[in-house]
Amino acid sequence: MLKRFSISIEENLLDIFDEHIQERQYNNRSEAIRDLIRKAFTKKEWEADKEVMGVINLVYDHHQHQLQEKVTEIQHDFHGLIVSTTHVHMDHHNCLEVIIVKGKAKEVQELSDLLLAQRGVRDGNLAMSTTGKFLH
Ligand code: NI
Repeated sequence: MLKRFSISIEENLLDIFDEHIQERQYNNRSEAIRDLIRKAFTKKEWEADKEVMGVINLVYDHHQHQLQEKVTEIQHDFHGLIVSTTHVHMDHHNCLEVIIVKGKAKEVQELSDLLLAQRGVRDGNLAMSTTGKFLH
């Protein structure tokens, strides 16, 4: 059920917000505000070490000595967290690995940190998302 409420806000802050919602292609302020609230609560879930979902992206050179083995070994050590892994051979050197993870926030963060710290990993990040349970 939708509830309505009104917000008091400084004009310049509202201008910045309206620019933001235009850039992000929101149809209206309400959906943009709902997203900000959901994002804040997703962040809180991670900070409170709740059960979360995330996506780890890694770009690495598979010619780097034993890196491929190491990346696989680490994932086996954390197998309970891993929902799915997709490997893309991007070119002669570079691989992209996309790992979908689910579990306690701190463990997911630890797995991500460990993978990103490996020598030969050229780029990577952890997209922090939610199981969506708190939204029900
Ligand atoms: Ni590859």
